[in-house]
Amino acid sequence: MVDFEYSIPTKIFFGKDKINVLGREVKKYGSKVLIVYGGGSIKRNGIYDKAISILKENGISYYELPGVEPNPRITTVKKGIDICKENGVELVLAIGGGSAIDCAKVVAAGCDYEGDPWDIVLDGSKIKKVLPIASILTLAATGSEMDSWAVINNMETNEKLIAAHPDMAPTFSILDPTYTFTVPKNQTAAGTADIMSHVFEVYFSNTKTAYLQDRMAEAVLRTCIKYGKIALEHPSDYEARANLMWASSLAINGLLTYGKDTNWSVHLMEHELSAFYDITHGVGLAILTPNWMEYILNNDTVYKFVEYGVNVWGIDKEKNHYDIAHEAIEKTRDYFVNALGIPARLKEVGIGEDKLDIMAKESVKLTGGTVGNLRPVNANEILEIFKKSL
Ligand code: NZQ
Ligand code: ZN
Repeated sequence: MVDFEYSIPTKIFFGKDKINVLGREVKKYGSKVLIVYGGGSIKRNGIYDKAISILKENGISYYELPGVEPNPRITTVKKGIDICKENGVELVLAIGGGSAIDCAKVVAAGCDYEGDPWDIVLDGSKIKKVLPIASILTLAATGSEMDSWAVINNMETNEKLIAAHPDMAPTFSILDPTYTFTVPKNQTAAGTADIMSHVFEVYFSNTKTAYLQDRMAEAVLRTCIKYGKIALEHPSDYEARANLMWASSLAINGLLTYGKDTNWSVHLMEHELSAFYDITHGVGLAILTPNWMEYILNNDTVYKFVEYGVNVWGIDKEKNHYDIAHEAIEKTRDYFVNALGIPARLKEVGIGEDKLDIMAKESVKLTGGTVGNLRPVNANEILEIFKKSL
């Protein structure tokens, strides 16, 4: 195990009706809040009304930044920063999925920055002061509710980049599984694939001595495989939604990463797909992942696929190692496509051959030429993976 410093600062309130802590918790930070939310799902399912009534009861004044796009835009972030500066906002409260939370994070980080907020996405070291951030999560997927990253799109430059700063971790997040009952099937599926991909990014690492983290990672994967399907079939199954929700946070909050050398790969590739084609993040990941797995499978990496196949998919460990690896990859593809109903090919989501080359190059532009840890891949290899995914 490699050395690490542990810090997961977000306080979690998990369970039905935990929104009732909202007034008490917000008042620890101030009495002026910016509420950041998406295209209206929180108005249709009643979460908006509940949150507003709690803020009013507690004498907390609020401003609103509605309309955050899936794949949140830097232009929307700018609007939020202006509202905060004009009104002396003291806490930024996201209500929604990863997009609302990510937007809220960069709004909070941009209030004390005088230049163009895109600068702080490009370079997190420019972030000096971050307003307190809180979230009410409505979609189990990104883990943004418990991590310190935000992913923002710049549609003018076709860029989708990760902003990172330790102070962008929410101070508290409210996780009520019943709030995800209304998540549509396609988003439930994409969210489950996203959680699994966060685990893959750190599970497929060269560190062979982090036994504990690897077994925890396998538990999160098995949880997704079991409950993703149930949540699709029974959207109001509390047990399924609760397990997925907690898996979302644990997959990316650091717990599985501490003590390992990691370098993400498929995420960097997928962010280019979302930057150029504005597709759903989890869908892009599910399409690329089995093809990336096949591509990195070789004599040096096969041991990891054996662990994965045996411990996650229950494949007989006495079989030939390559047979186990191929079966595990096939089961992964089958789960995404047939159990979750996610498209299998890039063409099905409107992506053709024309931009594959530029997207492959852009995938590695900030990472020194390769992405990934177990078997790093360069731009030419990413292009191969994209072509296999067409
Ligand atoms: O916009 P509204 O109307 O709220 O509808 C949303 C949106 O259309 C809907 N939705 C959310 N909760 C719902 C619901 N509909 C009904 N009932 C509910 N309870 O779902 C749609 C997708 O929402 P969005 O927030 O975009 O999805 P997700 O949570 O998957 O977030 C995706 C964004 O997060 C980034 C992705 O790249 C993408 O931009 N990521 C952020 C990460 C992070 N901060 O750590 C890591 C991830 O790897 C990822 O890159
Ligand atoms: Zn992701």
